[in-house]
Parts: sequence; structure tokens; C-alpha cells
Amino acid sequence: MPALPTGDPVPADGALPSSALATIADTEFALYLHVPFCRVRCGYCDFNTYTKPELGGHGATIDTFADAAIAEMDVAQDVLTAGGANPPAVSTIFIGGGTPTMLPAADLVRMVAAARERWGFADNIEITTEANPDTITPEIAVELAAGGFTRVSLGMQSAVPSVLATLERTHDPANVATALRACRAAGLAVSLDLIYGTPGETLGQWRMSLEEAIDLEPDHLSAYALTIEEGTKMGAQVKRGQLPTPDDDDEADKYELASELLMDAGYEWYEISNWSRGPATQCRHNLGYWRGVNWWGIGPGAHSHVGGVRWWNVKHPAAYASRLAQGLSPAHSREVLTAEQRSDEDILLGVRLAQGYPIASLPHKGRGAIAPLIGDGLIGGRAALRGSIVLTQRGRLLADTVVHHLING
Ligand SMILES: C[S@@+](CC[C@H](N)C(=O)[O-])C[C@H]1O[C@@H](n2cnc3c(N)ncnc32)[C@H](O)[C@@H]1O
Ligand code: SF4
Repeated sequence: MPALPTGDPVPADGALPSSALATIADTEFALYLHVPFCRVRCGYCDFNTYTKPELGGHGATIDTFADAAIAEMDVAQDVLTAGGANPPAVSTIFIGGGTPTMLPAADLVRMVAAARERWGFADNIEITTEANPDTITPEIAVELAAGGFTRVSLGMQSAVPSVLATLERTHDPANVATALRACRAAGLAVSLDLIYGTPGETLGQWRMSLEEAIDLEPDHLSAYALTIEEGTKMGAQVKRGQLPTPDDDDEADKYELASELLMDAGYEWYEISNWSRGPATQCRHNLGYWRGVNWWGIGPGAHSHVGGVRWWNVKHPAAYASRLAQGLSPAHSREVLTAEQRSDEDILLGVRLAQGYPIASLPHKGRGAIAPLIGDGLIGGRAALRGSIVLTQRGRLLADTVVHHLING
């Protein structure tokens, strides 16, 4: 797992500067909850998550996690109201991990209810949990829906057993369909997560995964290129030459295939790696991150953003539980973004969206890059005439280059 970034110290009670709270009442407010438990660790994953033997029964364990998370909500409530204003009702909640469904559904529902007691819910709130396909039964799906959940995001990754084996995914591929049907029967929207570029995966195998995912008719799909993370088992296998290094051209071909098959099946891209059946089934929580709303991240290692201040919690569940038990904020460090950093980040995130980034919000030097970027086929000429930067398919593959030019000219 990577170390936390360095940053400035945070006061013991987590208090924010008054400048960060100045616009709190008028800025959309979202919650993220990080559940740091997995049954086994997949070889490619460096997320902040722990198996039972790794935890050794200390700190926020599966049994005590919900109480610790609710204790952090109390910290959040004190910090957010210190300027005399309240944040608006919560617009979206996303429970991610780790494997949130390692917790009993009753605990997931209890954490959501605790958030409602403190902040209230917007009328059309979106509440998502991530889940591994093996961890959803019809009973669990019904309990989640009754507790207010509206979406489940299932980690399908691939439909091909040999690819799942390379990723060290333990779920039975048949359980993706079973879990999806259980969610749908309970009235929950379903998203499927896919990964492409696993070492050894052929283009034909990626096509099979896409076709199988499309056949299941999910409301939403995410497709991410596999990142080889240093410090993971897969990172070591690639370093030792036991697995081939992913190839940029192969990944580009796979992205283009995803784009083509998903579009043909009626899915629209709304962010570089995300497709939905239309605006109603886009993930509003993730859109909030890309649009820079305020969100509080609860749980070990969770990141938060309020009014230009970003902070992150201590990583280990034991340290997290111990801070909260002492009545302290679990925040580890933070950074206060300058106006220039906020503008750069706004571009970096906003350009990823199909709705486009307003040219009027670009710095002067970035506007000079527009004509060459259109000439190189990376952004759309017609959208630019209407005042927006919208990536072309080629631009979506080279988004970092586009962002670099829009920021630096
Ligand atoms: C961290 S997981 C949490 C949800 C759940 N445990 C699961 O695996 O589906 C969320 C998503 O991140 C993806 N992910 C984790 N490590 C990745 C990596 N190195 N490259 C690309 N995607 C990754 C997972 O495959 C999964 O779809
Ligand atoms: S199940 Fe998900 S969070 Fe857990 S190790 Fe695998 S990819 Fe990471």
C-alpha cells in the first residue's frame, strides 16, 4: 500500500480554516465511507484494505467498524458547523473499499441512517455501495434497498476465468449475473466494474468480457485500464519478468473497442472511463468529485475536500479507531489549495467529462492551446465553437496531454 502524501498538520479536533467554511451552506455536500476489509487481497490492488490475519483483531474490526465510522460523523458535524452555517442535505453517499459488503447489511444501513440523522437527505439522494459479486444475496439486496440504498457497483472485472486468475480475483464469474439479478429484483440500479489490460489478456478476451457485461444490461459500466502498482504482488511479478508489462497500444485498442461496443449497445460515455444508459443513470457521486463539490470521506485513509482544503485520514484501522476513541479527529494531514491549484484541478477533473469544460474558465495561456489541440484531433472543433472543451475519442486516450496544454499553454 502506498504511504500517505505529506501535508500540513491538522488540529487535533480537525477544525477547518474559516475560509473553507465560508461557502458551506451553498455547496453540494456528499459523503464517502471507506470500509477497509477484504477476504483476500487481489494481487494487483494497493487500496487501503486489510484481511483478517493482517488486522490481527486490533482496532476498528469488522464488528466495531460502523460505530467508529459513526463517531467520525460526530467529528464531521462539529467541524462543519463551526462557522455557524450547516452544509445542505446530503446529495450522494458512496460506500467503497475494500469490500463494504464484508460488513453485515445492517451495519451499512445503520451508517446511512446515522448520516441522515445528522444532515438529512436531499429528496433524490443517490446511495451506492461497492460489492464483490460473491457477497450479494437476494436477502442482502432487499435489506440494502429497504435501508435507502439506490445503487450497487459490482466488481466484475472480467468474464474470462484465466484473466480473473491472473488478477487473483476469487469470485465465481457466474455470481455476477446472480448478484445483478438480486439487486435488480430489489429495485437497485447496478453498475459493473471492468478492468482491461491484464497481463496476457487478448483483445478477443476483452471483447468477451465486454459482450458478457453488455448482455447483463447493467444501468452503468466503468472500464479502467489496469495500473501496475509498485509494492503489490503483481508489481513484483512484472518487475521480475514473470508477467509482461502492459502495452500502451494494446490498452488503446481495448479502450477503443469498449467505446465502440458500449456505444453500439446504447451506452453513452459521460466520463473517460464511465458509461451509462443516459443522464439518469450516471453516477452522481463521482460526478461530484469531478465537479469539485464538498465531500467528507469517513474511514481509515479516506480523503475529504471542503472549500479548497483537502485532507486524509490515518491509514490503519487501529490508529483510526484509537484516535476516535480519544475524541480526536482521525485526520492525518491536509493541504490548503491555492487559487492556481484549484483552477488546475478544476481543469484536470472537468476535462474528463463529456459535457465539456467551459473555455471561459480556462486561464489565458490555456486558450492559446485550443487551436493546436483541435488540429491534432484531440478536442472537438464544433464544441469549441460553442464554448466547450470536449475530448474526442483520441483525446480521451491522451487526456493528460490535453490537460497539460490547457494549463500551461
Ligand atoms: C478498490 S475496488 C473496491 C470494490 C471491490 N472490492 C472490488 O474489487 O470490486 C474498486 C475498483 O478498483 C479497481 N482497482 C483496484 N486496483 C486497481 C488497479 N491497480 N488498476 C485498475 N483498477 C483497480 C477494482 O478492480 C475495483 O473494480
Ligand atoms: S476485492 Fe477489491 S478492494 Fe479488495 S483487494 Fe480486491 S480489488 Fe482491492
